[in-house]
Amino acid sequence: MSVTSEAKVGDIATQYPLATRVFARHGIDFCCGGGKPIAEVCTKAGLDVSAVLAEIESEITNRETKAVRWDERPLNELIEHILSTHHRPLDEELPRLQALAQKVHDVHVDKAPDMLSGVLSVFSALRTELEQHMLKEEKVLFPMILAGQGAMTGGPVVVMEQEHEVAGAALKQLRALTNNFEVPEGACNSWRALWAGLEAIEQDLHEHIHLENNILFPRALSSGPMPLGESR
Ligand SMILES: [Fe+2]
Ligand SMILES: [Fe+2]
Repeated sequence: MSVTSEAKVGDIATQYPLATRVFARHGIDFCCGGGKPIAEVCTKAGLDVSAVLAEIESEITNRETKAVRWDERPLNELIEHILSTHHRPLDEELPRLQALAQKVHDVHVDKAPDMLSGVLSVFSALRTELEQHMLKEEKVLFPMILAGQGAMTGGPVVVMEQEHEVAGAALKQLRALTNNFEVPEGACNSWRALWAGLEAIEQDLHEHIHLENNILFPRALSSGPMPLGESR
């Protein structure tokens, strides 16, 4: 067994990117809550740690070579990956889901008033928060990291981590409001598409925040000024 019960969830996700499939399956938080040992997280969630470790083992065996070890790639490549895989798709997905949430709310609010008003308001706040957050990363923090400012990035990193916590809390609220994205009986296609989109954005944000909190930020903080012409 390559992963032990003492290993921290965020470290497992860093060393074995495919393990995040198992975390997603069991609702294990590996981004903001990544600092806790897997055994502690499983116990708290009522999961059998040895069964979870066995699932991780089967996900990573023979397939790990295909997953990118972002802790071993240059920082500029990691930032490029975060921008193209997570930030740019959100530019489209956030307005699309907000329009969908508004539509489902307007048409069906009488069927589930608390649920649909709650989803609309939590999602709208999350969208605004994320758009401002990504702008700060793109205009301030990522350029500082690319310029090799090392420990100078500490202030912005703390702010970004706090904002990740806020986004993580909104995702939990959305999961609770929608009964784990369970589609209500007789729900129309828009309603189904909304729940599916929200669940997909949850998984995407967990991966996105993990790459920043557990890999990009610690590496940026510990890196010093880099000589001209070299990439990290
Ligand atoms: Fe980001
Ligand atoms: Fe972020």
